[in-house]
Amino acid sequence: MGSIHISMCTFVTSASVAAAAAWLYYATSPAQADGLRFPASLPPQTVVVDPLQFAVLGQNATFRSSSFTEFFNPTNTTPPFFQAFDPAFLDILGSNPSIRVIASNPGFAFAHEAPIWVQKTNEVFFASNDGGPLGFSDIDHNNQVSKVSLNEVDVAIKNARDATSALNVTVTALALPGTVQMTNGGTGPFRGNLLLVNSGRGNLPPSITIVNPEAPHNATVLLDNFFGRQFNSLNDVKIHPTSKKLFFTDVTYGWLNHFRPLPLLPSQVYRFDPDTGIIRVVADGFDRPNGIAFTKDGKTAYIADTGASGGFLGNNQTEPATIYAFDVDSKTQAFHNRRVFAYVDTGVADGVQLDNKDNVYAGTGDGAHVWNPEGTLLGKFFIGNTSANLIFANKGQLVILGETEIVLAQIAAEGFNLAF
Ligand SMILES: *[C@@H]1O[C@H](CO)[C@@H](O)[C@H](O)[C@H]1NC(C)=O
Ligand SMILES: *[C@@H]1O[C@H](CO)[C@@H](O)[C@H](O)[C@H]1NC(C)=O
Ligand SMILES: *[C@@H]1O[C@H](CO)[C@@H](O)[C@H](O)[C@H]1NC(C)=O
Ligand SMILES: *[C@@H]1O[C@H](CO)[C@@H](O)[C@H](O)[C@H]1NC(C)=O
Ligand SMILES: *[C@@H]1O[C@H](CO)[C@@H](O)[C@H](O)[C@H]1NC(C)=O
Repeated sequence: MGSIHISMCTFVTSASVAAAAAWLYYATSPAQADGLRFPASLPPQTVVVDPLQFAVLGQNATFRSSSFTEFFNPTNTTPPFFQAFDPAFLDILGSNPSIRVIASNPGFAFAHEAPIWVQKTNEVFFASNDGGPLGFSDIDHNNQVSKVSLNEVDVAIKNARDATSALNVTVTALALPGTVQMTNGGTGPFRGNLLLVNSGRGNLPPSITIVNPEAPHNATVLLDNFFGRQFNSLNDVKIHPTSKKLFFTDVTYGWLNHFRPLPLLPSQVYRFDPDTGIIRVVADGFDRPNGIAFTKDGKTAYIADTGASGGFLGNNQTEPATIYAFDVDSKTQAFHNRRVFAYVDTGVADGVQLDNKDNVYAGTGDGAHVWNPEGTLLGKFFIGNTSANLIFANKGQLVILGETEIVLAQIAAEGFNLAF
């Protein structure tokens, strides 16, 4: 390690290329005997950042002061790319991965949340930013649910001039009924429909709706209150894999983004049975509960707490940017035994998804991060912009929502069935 001049490095994207080279970890490095073992040849679009190489930066290093505006990109690589911190990330990528932009609209955050893959038509649905930057939605204007066709993406990839250039497939907006207001979460398909959770707008109540994925996109409201009280602003949802009940988070972002009245309930997680109407709380004690996911056996739940992101209160990086794990009680399905699963270094962890080996993926301030089930950060799908959520599709397709762009990673890892 003697020849590595780490003190010359800066963490931010302005790092010089010369300094950046010192971060690349090769199998020939003398540190190999003590550190992680990466192969000498890496898959395309992949850089290795060995944790041992930045464990000590020295007194003269340039440290990051903002988790929101400064990225950890010591190789100064142009996004999108794969950033590996652990050799196990290479198993997730496989030998011939790719990552590229498939749709973009620099002026409109059309791809924020609620990603749902519908296998039947091979389409991915999603919602635009609700109440935030470039969302063009507010107390007077609803946000927009749209879709892209992965079949069209396949054709565009076949016709592309190379494996990495940005594509721009058609984004089709859905005309939804007025009962669907400020969609922020989604999963399914549930009984053949999109399952959307909506934050509400003004005094229009937050709700859970099912929406016909095909025209005329008619919707049915499943829930819009808690014993007569409006929710604050529903955020995200998953179907529990064994009980098939709906679990969702409620948080204060509608108020924090100026499109909902003052919160009147704690920020907490609920369980809802759409067949009996029975609803109850399964977890509380959060700052701002956000993304939700279960392992495929349904025994572990993950909740992302985006407390560090405060809407009009501003960002405060001393508050949580943390994914918590819980045991799902076999009798009550309440969430027990809360523990920290992962704290993210950039932005906040928002939407959470798992692959079929129980690795955990989350949208964060610089793209999507992935941890193994023990909570070790394996690597990042580094897009250089905020990603609120992502979704697996087909065999090894990971669709990453990046606000003003959608990024497709084609990798070895696969998701598991979220349709019930
Ligand atoms: C840090 O910077 C100071 C002032 O430029 C210099 O004297 C010192 O040698 C540097 N230390 C290291 C470890 O590079
Ligand atoms: C992609 O297409 C959309 C719709 O035509 C357009 O608004 C957008 O600017 C295009 N993106 C780029 C990067 O040109
Ligand atoms: C983030 O997205 C914006 C809007 O599309 C774009 O102008 C900017 O270049 C992106 N940032 C990076 C680091 O790619
Ligand atoms: C949409 O309308 C059709 C025809 O009336 C009905 O069968 C279906 O249940 C509706 N779907 C939703 C989600 O409301
Ligand atoms: C940030 O959060 C901490 C912990 O809640 C609080 O003590 C501090 O006052 C906050 N800072 C700002 C600028 O709001």
